[in-house]
Amino acid sequence: MTARLLSGPSTTAGAETLADHLARLGDLPGRADRAHLIAMLDAAGLLGRGGAGFPVGRKWGSVAGRAKGEAVVLANGAEGEPLSHKDRVLMASRPHLVLDGLELAAEAVGARRAVLYVGSEHAEARAALERALAERAAGRTPGRLPRVPTTLVTPPVSYLAGEESAAVHFVNAGDPRPTTVPPRPYEKGVAGRPTLVQNVETLAHAALIARYGDAWYREAGRAETRGTALVTVSGGMRPGVLEVDLGTTVGELAEWSGVSASVGSPVLLGGYFGTIVAGANAWRLPLDPVAMRCDGAAFGAGVVAFLGDEACGVATTARIMDYMAGSSAAQCGPCVFGLRAIADASARVATGQPHQDDLARLRGWSQSLAGRGACRLPDGTTALLATSLRVYEADWTSHQHHRRCSVRQGARVVQ
Ligand SMILES: Cc1cc2nc3c(=O)[nH]c(=O)nc-3n(C[C@H](O)[C@H](O)[C@H](O)COP(=O)(O)O)c2cc1C
Ligand code: SF4
Repeated sequence: MTARLLSGPSTTAGAETLADHLARLGDLPGRADRAHLIAMLDAAGLLGRGGAGFPVGRKWGSVAGRAKGEAVVLANGAEGEPLSHKDRVLMASRPHLVLDGLELAAEAVGARRAVLYVGSEHAEARAALERALAERAAGRTPGRLPRVPTTLVTPPVSYLAGEESAAVHFVNAGDPRPTTVPPRPYEKGVAGRPTLVQNVETLAHAALIARYGDAWYREAGRAETRGTALVTVSGGMRPGVLEVDLGTTVGELAEWSGVSASVGSPVLLGGYFGTIVAGANAWRLPLDPVAMRCDGAAFGAGVVAFLGDEACGVATTARIMDYMAGSSAAQCGPCVFGLRAIADASARVATGQPHQDDLARLRGWSQSLAGRGACRLPDGTTALLATSLRVYEADWTSHQHHRRCSVRQGARVVQ
């Protein structure tokens, strides 16, 4: 496992100070070298780490092209995904790396204003960033980057608050619900200005690429997509956040976290917006956004959750469906009614009280709801459901038709 973002002191040692950050990583290059940063990000092949995996250089170029010096940069540290912890760990331990990335982005796209958008539940991360901003205001900014007025904004705890149009809506109007797109934030975002919304991990990678170059960035990684990524691993003996070379296999992470490879139980990859993959297929999968997409899996927000054989996959899926239905911003009919219907039917099947056609309807909804909301909540939720229906097919059928849970050795799931 290569440590880059997380090289240096342990992440449990608290926030790195500005002096320690500069002593360890050195200063940023001067303005003339930084002028090529967008091209360097392109050459590095850096992809966004907030979930969608969009090419970073292309996004900075689009904002820069329309900004006319009036852009806004929003660093997305909402991290509402329940299985992800990587962004809060990064912000709490390496705040200056995130701020370097934010200020570099502001310079590159021509922004006069920046927003640090940090979930209100991430208190340690917020405190670290506040202290880091104060240190920079009192001292020297790395690379003598131009000072960008930066506001720290804290959205309420919510899965949706991190979606980019919801983030812009909250900053503009205090309402953390998605808005219809277009216009997308890069066209018209905070205060109506072209806005670069970028995940905090992505910004931290950009800060290292600015220092060491795209060739250095590409030295790490074993797959098509180069570099390293932060992942949040759960379900084994050693849960936690770690940095891996892209291309590291799920099996290697299983070994790291003390999950026996012989178990080969299903793995949830990407997060609640991701995919459930059967153990036999998951173990060999490289953690690489592009390769995973080709395999029908999702890298998403870097979540790797070993589900184990002891838990009932139908019950786990029903819990996630309920959480997602509860997360709906209640603006689009197919999302409000569709996700609630999915959650209720899943709960009935999980608890052994299915209606006659529940499983058939779940199969239908898993294919028909995508693309019918203003945001991608229905798409992500039904994609996860579809993979659960496939991976746990025997269990869903057993619950539906025999009211028996195979995980609990044939126990009836109704009294
Ligand atoms: C429902 C939903 C929730 C999201 N939550 C987050 C989040 O908490 N943090 C984040 O960085 N991106 C989140 N995203 C992705 C953002 O919309 C956006 O694509 C991302 O912040 C862009 O940064 P990146 O290109 O660096 O990944 C979410 C997307 C959706 C559809
Ligand atoms: S799809 Fe759902 S969560 Fe997204 S905007 Fe519509 S109602 Fe809100």
